[in-house]
Amino acid sequence: MNTLKIDNVSVVYRNGYQALTALNLEIENGIFGLLGPNGAGKSSLMKTIVGLQKPSEGSIHFNGCDVVKHPLAIQKHLGFLPQYFGVYPKVSAYDLLDHLAKLKGVQHKQERHQQILGLLEKVNLLEHQKKEVHTFSGGMKQRFGVAQALLGTPKIVIVDEPTAGLDPEERNRFNTLLSDISEEIIIMLSTHLVEDVRNLCSNMAIINKGAIVSQGRPNDFIAELKGTLWQKAVKTSELPEMEAKHQVISKQLIEKVMYVTVRATEAPNGFHPVAPTLEHVYFNHLK
Ligand SMILES: Nc1ncnc2c1ncn2[C@@H]1O[C@H](COP(=O)(O)OP(=O)(O)OP(=O)(O)O)[C@@H](O)[C@H]1O
Ligand SMILES: [Mg+2]
Repeated sequence: MNTLKIDNVSVVYRNGYQALTALNLEIENGIFGLLGPNGAGKSSLMKTIVGLQKPSEGSIHFNGCDVVKHPLAIQKHLGFLPQYFGVYPKVSAYDLLDHLAKLKGVQHKQERHQQILGLLEKVNLLEHQKKEVHTFSGGMKQRFGVAQALLGTPKIVIVDEPTAGLDPEERNRFNTLLSDISEEIIIMLSTHLVEDVRNLCSNMAIINKGAIVSQGRPNDFIAELKGTLWQKAVKTSELPEMEAKHQVISKQLIEKVMYVTVRATEAPNGFHPVAPTLEHVYFNHLK
């Protein structure tokens, strides 16, 4: 079993902005979803875990090793897909993976070859292996990024918004791939796609304004809201009154009709019950 333990981690950037405040998390094997709105601190946390930046305070341990003091203790076992990655050199996808695999310590040529072909197939880039990576489309680059993160035999894979820019078919392929490899290792993924967390993650945390708002299992979160959500179609002009009177969880346009979902112990007048989703959980915790 691998463990990642984050204790009391704060990050203050050079301009004085505090991106993370005394954050605690403990993660074990399986897929862990970090869910939060834009600017919540997801990328800041991930960059700090992988050692691209040091926390201003707090400690991070991977399998018992202090990785703030010894970043190699995690980096040796790490696959990382940053949210934004830089310019690709004019090398073919295959050659770049071969180079990166060497850096990751896959010494044996035949082993590298097998692994690279296997990964290229899994991210559906086999037929483009000879193309130079800088000519790839956005989604192809993203899939290349996934392949490089899985090179070697990582014990921890950290992917920052991995499905952003992927078409639905490739997103499904990616989710299946993650799910297949997740039993033996830690996979931490950040997203604002609630549905991906619901489908993939055994554990999750909601992060907002640099702090963990809540952590648990998606199913438990949903169970907590059971029997407390009510929905009604409204006119936009009725919204202010709704918000004054009720605890509004979400407002959603469905086929051009505005639906409000409110939380209450009993059905308010004219509302009908609605089954809670992870999206309701997310909105409920952000409020
Ligand atoms: N290098 C930096 N210097 C100063 N402030 C920064 C720096 N990097 C990030 N921030 C700020 O820290 C906050 C958190 O940013 P971060 O990129 O971690 O958010 P995020 O949750 O990944 O958002 P998104 O969903 O948009 O990717 C933001 O307010 C951002 O402006
Ligand atoms: Mg980010």
